[in-house]
Amino acid sequence: MEKRGGFSTKIGVLMATVGSAVGLGNIWRFPYETGRNGGAAFLLVYLVCIFIIGFPVVMAEFVIGRRAKANPVGAFKKLAPNTKWHWVGYMGVLAGLLILGYYSVVAGWTMEYIFKALSLELENKSAADYTSMFETFTSNPILPIIWTTLVMIMSHLIVKKGIKGGIEKASRIMMPLLFLLMLILAVHSILLPGSIKGIEFFFNPDFSKLTAESVLTALGHAFFSLSLGMGCLITYSSYFKSNIDLPKTAVQVTLIDTLVAVTAGVIIFPTVFAFNMQPEAGPGLVYMVLPNVFQQMPGSFIWSTMFYILLFLAALTSLMSLHEVVTSYIHERYSISRLNSSRLVTGLVLFLGVFCSWSFGIMKNVTLLSMNFFEWLEYLTASVLLPLGGMLISIFVAWYLDKKIVFDELSNDGKVKVKGFKIYIFILRYVAPLCIFAVFVTSLVK
Ligand code: TRP
Repeated sequence: MEKRGGFSTKIGVLMATVGSAVGLGNIWRFPYETGRNGGAAFLLVYLVCIFIIGFPVVMAEFVIGRRAKANPVGAFKKLAPNTKWHWVGYMGVLAGLLILGYYSVVAGWTMEYIFKALSLELENKSAADYTSMFETFTSNPILPIIWTTLVMIMSHLIVKKGIKGGIEKASRIMMPLLFLLMLILAVHSILLPGSIKGIEFFFNPDFSKLTAESVLTALGHAFFSLSLGMGCLITYSSYFKSNIDLPKTAVQVTLIDTLVAVTAGVIIFPTVFAFNMQPEAGPGLVYMVLPNVFQQMPGSFIWSTMFYILLFLAALTSLMSLHEVVTSYIHERYSISRLNSSRLVTGLVLFLGVFCSWSFGIMKNVTLLSMNFFEWLEYLTASVLLPLGGMLISIFVAWYLDKKIVFDELSNDGKVKVKGFKIYIFILRYVAPLCIFAVFVTSLVK
């Protein structure tokens, strides 16, 4: 087999990992799940999940990945030979494929919106116009699928080249730019008259709105946003060099990811309330709401174009990371070339993507237990497979793996100081798995 590639610089590692974490999850999914689940109380639970459960599991995936230097299935096989642990890897690869199915569709929407912005279609309209514009577009049986195909081809072109070639460089420029632009938008949004109701919705918790199911959603979204629970970070860290400080990288990724999500909320909710829209609007929220802020800004079409381009790029760096997981598994397991593995993944994803896209049009009412295909994929991955994967990964590192291995990886063989190692193992052993289990059981009983 050819030599495994890898990231070349520290900043490249950080930006690529942040590139994987920051994506549609932060800017598209987080606001609409917060909107659907009552606002501030959901935010609070989400933050607790990120820092108490998500962050320790990020480090756990890093430990597994850099130690084993393989795709998720191969990594478990190496570290736990002759056990069933590699099934956690299979579960992850499956989850990756399913997430790609709907993620690619929503990433495709951003491309349509780049062109809508460029052709001045987003100018001088009412809030109701933006809503119907979104619905007309997503219910079209062909157009969104064309965009999905284009997005997957781009992801394919990057992934087939390996790690260093495109992923690193692209992420280094795009991520800081996205963040800057979001800050500007957040200020504009807060200055809208009537924005205070949105700020209240986002920051003033009303716990009566919190259900067991929304706690599971918050937990699942914490995993989704950190790219956690399916071996994505195992795969990325398998390309880290031995001098990368794993705890430090985990802290940085977690903080940046959270900051971007909160900023997205600060942009969206004041606007929602300033224009009398519904925070429960669901997956269309960002596409229907943001044009309202853009058109208030001088030089509006420049802002909106730039925003959708950056959103697209953020989506692409996340898409790549998912694409990479499934590709590296097929490539390393079946000795199929990287190129053909990536092609195979692209094909499978497009197949799923068609049904996801139609879930907004001709297949909207094809439901099982009142969820359509898109909603099923989302639920199955974010609310079931990712938390389950995260629970098993923390159990694996804390109970199965030799603690010396864990310590050596976190400290780069004793070269960097590690504080709170015992507490860390305690959290991974008991707190994280039990919390995930409790949330599962409560919401299943419901
Ligand atoms: N974290 C990304 C986002 O917020 C999506 C993503 C990329 C992901 N890789 C993942 C989600 C792996 C779960 C698992 O948009």
